[in-house]
Amino acid sequence: MKNLSRASAPAKAILFGEHFVVHGKPAIVMAINLRAYATAKPESGGKIIIESKSMRAFGSFTVDGAYQPILGGLEVWEKLLPIYVAARKIMSLADENNVGVRIEVESSIPIAAGLGSSAAVSVASAAAVGRLLELNISGDDIFRVALEAERTVHENPSGVDPAISTYGGLIIYHRGEGIRRLDAGVDLPLVVGDTCIKRVTGEMVLRVSEVRKRYPDVIDRIMDSGEAIVKMGAKALQSGDLKAIGDLMNINHALLCALGVSNEMIDRLVYAARNAGALGAKLTGAGGGGCIIALPPPGKDNRIVEAIEGAGGRAFTTCMSREGVRIEEQ
Ligand code: MEV
Repeated sequence: MKNLSRASAPAKAILFGEHFVVHGKPAIVMAINLRAYATAKPESGGKIIIESKSMRAFGSFTVDGAYQPILGGLEVWEKLLPIYVAARKIMSLADENNVGVRIEVESSIPIAAGLGSSAAVSVASAAAVGRLLELNISGDDIFRVALEAERTVHENPSGVDPAISTYGGLIIYHRGEGIRRLDAGVDLPLVVGDTCIKRVTGEMVLRVSEVRKRYPDVIDRIMDSGEAIVKMGAKALQSGDLKAIGDLMNINHALLCALGVSNEMIDRLVYAARNAGALGAKLTGAGGGGCIIALPPPGKDNRIVEAIEGAGGRAFTTCMSREGVRIEEQ
C-alpha cells in the first residue's frame, strides 16, 4: 500500500437529453473545468474515515458499514455514503477488505446543483483508493464502481454523471450501451447560472417517471423528440453550427418544462440569458432548482453573466475539460 494518493475528476454539464437518458434515450454531456479532489491515506484500526469540508461532513464507517459521526451529526451520513460505497467496492476489487483508509475530499463544484458533484467525488475517491492500494484499475472499472455509488444517491441513475466524470471531454451517453466520443468543431464556452435552489435528483427523476406513467402517449413523444434533439445536436456540435446548437438547447428546455422539471427561478435565468444575447439557454441536470447553461456568442459571455446575476442567480463562465479522472502526482 502507498502512503498517500490523490485523484481528481471533473464536473459536467448536460447539453441535451437529461431525464430522457434515464428512460433509455441518448444524452450529450460535456465535462467542465471544475474538479473534485480526493486524497486517500492508510488508517490504522480498519475503519473508513471520510471528511468533506465542502459538504461539512466528517465521519467514520466500520467494515460492515456502521456509521459514526465525527462532525455534522448523523444526517450527513447520506452525503458520505457514496464515497464509502466507492471505497468499499475498490477495496473488494483489490481483495483488501479489512484495511483502514482515510479519504479527504475537496471540491469547487456546487452541490446539488445539476453539475454532477456527487459523481465527481465518487469517481475521484474510487481512483484515489485504487491508487493507494496499488490496484491496476481501468476507467471502465472506475465508472462501474462510481455507478454503484450513485445508486445510493438516487435509485435509478442512468450513469451519465459517473461516465462523464470518468471519461471527460464531450460524449454521447446511452444507458447500457456506454459512451461515444464527440469532437466538437468549435470551442464551447458556456455560461452557468446557479439558481442556488438545492434539489434532490431522485425526487425529480421520480416525478418524471410518474408523469410518464400517467400520460405515456404524450410523454413518450416528448422523449422521442429528445432523442431527435440529441441526433441533430451531435451533428451541430461536430460541424460547429452555434446557431443550431443554441436553437436545440432552447427546444430541449421547452421539453423539460413540459415534463414539469423547470420552475419560475430557472425560467427567469434562462430568459435573462436569452435576452442578453445567448444563442440558447436551458436547465441542466435534474431541474427543480440547480443550474442553467447558456451558450454565448463568441466573446459575449460577460453580458450573459451580468444578466443572470441581475436576475438573482450566481453565474460563471466555464469550458470543456478534455481530461476525465486523473491521478494527481505528489
Ligand atoms: C442528472 O445529472 C441527470 C438525470 O438525467 C438523472 C440521471 O441521468 O441519472 C436527471
